[in-house]
Amino acid sequence: MSQTKPGSFVIAEDGVDPRTVPQRTLWTGASMPAIGLGTFGSDRFAAEDIAAAVIGAAEVGYRHFDCAKVYANEASIGASLETIIAGGVPRQELWVTSKLWNDKHAPADVIPTFKESLRDLRLDYLDLYLIHWPFPNHHAQGVDVTSRAHDAKPYIHEDFMATWRELEKLVDQGLVRHIGTSNMTIPKLKLLLRDARIRPACNEMELHPCFQQPELFKFVMDNGIVPIGFAPIGSPTRPERDKTPDDAVDIEEPAIVAVAKRLGVHPATVCVKWAVQRGQVPIPMSIYRNEYLSNLRSTVSSPLTDAEMDAISHADRNSRLIKGQVFLWKEGQTWEDLWDLDGNIAQ
Ligand SMILES: NC(=O)c1ccc[n+]([C@@H]2O[C@H](COP(=O)([O-])OP(=O)(O)OC[C@H]3O[C@@H](n4cnc5c(N)ncnc54)[C@H](OP(=O)(O)O)[C@@H]3O)[C@@H](O)[C@H]2O)c1
Repeated sequence: MSQTKPGSFVIAEDGVDPRTVPQRTLWTGASMPAIGLGTFGSDRFAAEDIAAAVIGAAEVGYRHFDCAKVYANEASIGASLETIIAGGVPRQELWVTSKLWNDKHAPADVIPTFKESLRDLRLDYLDLYLIHWPFPNHHAQGVDVTSRAHDAKPYIHEDFMATWRELEKLVDQGLVRHIGTSNMTIPKLKLLLRDARIRPACNEMELHPCFQQPELFKFVMDNGIVPIGFAPIGSPTRPERDKTPDDAVDIEEPAIVAVAKRLGVHPATVCVKWAVQRGQVPIPMSIYRNEYLSNLRSTVSSPLTDAEMDAISHADRNSRLIKGQVFLWKEGQTWEDLWDLDGNIAQ
């Protein structure tokens, strides 16, 4: 499978015209491409691989990149963004997201940490800045799911709002156009919507055919928050430590496989296509040109039929893959405690 070499930028003849890619409108009136490229290399890919994929993806028509400080590759991606802009793509046609990691929720840390991402990405503003998780409980990348921060805490709304106020200042200063959340629940979002001076524009959440989160999805849509869907293909290559025997496999789901057979495509692209048609913004990750190109193409081809959309709606297995065990704060808890399943914020 081919990968792009970093350093040059040439619009691909076999790419997708970015003007034809579906867009979502945010509460500010701005629009964002309804598909982005994920940039988390996990244990598998080096920063340079991801940075090369960012250029290759822009060459085939991607304009939206989902980054994060904790992915430890923003400096490499910044060089790619510089190449893309120098290659003729106006900055305003790009959508670049970054995220604040859990060890930097303290108000004094937020703006300096944001500025590091901005500098690394070689930009003078970001389109979207998210609080990556609602918990400040730090853990190093790649640790086992049994790892816990020694000072781990539950969600404390006053603390979260103190962090949010710093994000609001970044909007006031013109350094970021939109702010948002990730891995939130309905009760947490209700409090944020009650207390925010500047509303969240997006909530990044796990979304794939076997984990559709219908209630949270409806809640964010009803409140004018755009859902960005991570692990849209069901993250088939996630590390073993993040797998449990009961996890569903989206690309083997019969409703997905049936569509893939009809269209003669890989089931992964059906997951992406379904996501865009349902109304979320998937951010599939791949460093391979044939994969990221076919994911993008799936967003501009003829829609799935009503019967196919209906069949996929029944593929939901409530199968959360990114369970978040490392955020737990006291003995005897299970990962379900992180997700406020009874409608109350767990303490
Ligand atoms: N906010 C958060 O807390 C959070 C959490 C997790 C992820 N994310 C974001 O979401 C992004 C996506 O999540 P993810 O990478 O875990 O999962 P994913 O996008 O569901 O799955 C990625 C894997 O799917 C395979 N794939 C992609 N396109 C394919 C295609 N067309 N055909 C066949 N296989 C294909 C690739 O495997 P191969 O590499 O083997 O080809 C790739 O490694 C991340 O990169 C990150 O930006 C955010």
